[in-house]
Order: sequence, then structure tokens, then C-alpha cells
Amino acid sequence: MTRPKVLVTRKWPDAVERRLASAYDLTLNPADRPLTPQALAAAMGAFDAICPTVVDSITADLVARDGLRVKILANYGVGVNHIDVEACRARGIAVTNTPDVLTGATAELALTLMLMIARRAGEGERQVRSGGWNGWGTTRLLGTTLVGKTLGVIGFGRIGQATARMAHRALGMSVLYSSRRPARPGIEAETGARHTPLEALLAQSDVVTLHCPGGAETRHLINAERLAQMKPSAFLINTARGAVVDEAALETALRTGAIAGAGLDVYSNEPDVPAGLLQLENVVLLPHMGSATTETREAMGHRAVDNLDAFFAGERPLDLL
Ligand code: 8YV
Repeated sequence: MTRPKVLVTRKWPDAVERRLASAYDLTLNPADRPLTPQALAAAMGAFDAICPTVVDSITADLVARDGLRVKILANYGVGVNHIDVEACRARGIAVTNTPDVLTGATAELALTLMLMIARRAGEGERQVRSGGWNGWGTTRLLGTTLVGKTLGVIGFGRIGQATARMAHRALGMSVLYSSRRPARPGIEAETGARHTPLEALLAQSDVVTLHCPGGAETRHLINAERLAQMKPSAFLINTARGAVVDEAALETALRTGAIAGAGLDVYSNEPDVPAGLLQLENVVLLPHMGSATTETREAMGHRAVDNLDAFFAGERPLDLL
């Protein structure tokens, strides 16, 4: 039997690439350069399966073309706002993602950003590295204690809940959450989390952390009006998708003191970071590294291959969307 032709659009962990090579007619991308839109379009007609990442935009136009060969898109990552899943479904193309395996790592990074911005760790590090630190002082680099404060979680799925659990257990934070779907039974008891309307959550939280999906429905969910509802002493954390936040409004809020600070791992137009944000001290800027641990990136790859294997065995993939 001929092996399915599989394209992996970026460099994946070696062990996962070896596993794929043993089962498929495989094309890898050892140079790790993102595919051009033209190359991606050509791949849709040349491979049975494509394993994309967040940087591969798979639009309705791409999926509507004649001569498609692709039968499954096994996405490496949980967020699929870069893939028009509806258009794929209409053309009979299966789409899978990799939930669960990156939950802990992404929640860890949300905690990292909270602690960094509240304790001014980025500023302090820049001071040390630039030679600008001239010694200890009682009033220098004073941050904000997070222990016992209130965390507002917007989007209470796996990652939102994991972040709430970590913040509650490690820092004794009280948790409010806003979510369309009711929370899993038990998580409220475990974290003391209370379902709260968005406006009240924004007004009461000392830290607001975003864990909702990206896409049209959540675009600019955090806009000037919502930023104005936050406490002037509060911090905004975004490890979800850049476009959930109106970045121009955020920059204004940070400059005018409408909020105290922000910690961002994602941006609307990656890898571009708005120039205005780069100038501000009261924002921590990380390069989309929520799931970037060795263990997690390997587990994401294996999860994507599990989905491919199930699909080509004629079974329903675990993470079929
Ligand atoms: C990944 C992510 O790095 O899973 C997601 O949705 O944002 C990140 O964990 C990225 O998506 C890889 O494609």
C-alpha cells in the first residue's frame, strides 16, 4: 500500500519527525522557514496531509480551490484561528489540534507574565544588564504583591482553569471567571472561582488574564472601553491571541495610567510588536512562547501524529474539530 504523503510545515522535535518518517511519505522543513502562501497553496494539491502551525494561514480561498489533494490538516497547537475550519469541513477536509498537552506550560507562562509585570522583573533585569543598577534602596523598583489578590480569568477552558489553579494554590489568589460555557464541575470548589459578568470581573480584578480562543468573535474583546473598566492598579495578561486586545487602546491605557501594566506573549501581527509598546517600561513582551518547553513541544508533535495515525487507520481522530 502506498504511504500517505505528509507535509510538516516547520521543524518539529527530532523524535516526532522520526516517528512520522517511519509511517509516512514525509516532507520535512529542516530549515524551519515559514512557507510562503504560494507554497502552502501548492501543498494543498500535492499532499494527503499537512501539519501546519499558527503561522500558516489556511483561508476559505485556499480551501475553495480546485485540485485539492489534502484530506487532513493536523495542526500543531491548540488554537486554530489561522484555519477556516468551517470551509475545511465544507470541503470534507478534517482538522485536528493538540489540546491538553500544552495546558500546563501555557498556564505557567501566564503566571510568569503576572509575576514579571507585578514585580517589575523586566525593568529590573534591563537595569542590571545595562549597568544602570547602582545599588539597593528602600524605594527602588517597588512592585505589587500578588499574594491574596484577585485574578480575573476571561475564557475558562483548560488553560484558563489551569492558570486559576496555579494562581490560587501558589499565590492564594481569589478567582473570578467569565466564560460562555459553564465550568467543569469541581473546578469552582477547587479554586473558589466564581462565575462573574465581564464588567464586574474587569472592575474587581487585580490581574486580568485572557484564555479565550482567537478569531472574529473575540477580536478586540479588550478595547478602550473595557480597559477603562479595569482598576488603574490592575495588570492585563495575554497568552491567548494578540487580536483579542486592541493594541492601540492598550498602549494608550498603559501610557495614561488607565491600567498599571501588561504582560503579553502574543500580538495581532506577529512577529511585529507595536513600536509604541516597545518604548514602555510597564509592559512585559515575550515572543509567543506559551507552549515552548522541550517536553510540551514533543508532546504536541506526538499528539498531532496520533491524530494522523487515527485518521489514516480509518478511525475518528481524538482531536477532530
Ligand atoms: C503554539 C499556541 O506555539 O497552541 C497554540 O494555540 O498558540 C502555541 O502553543 C503554536 O500555536 C504552534 O502552532
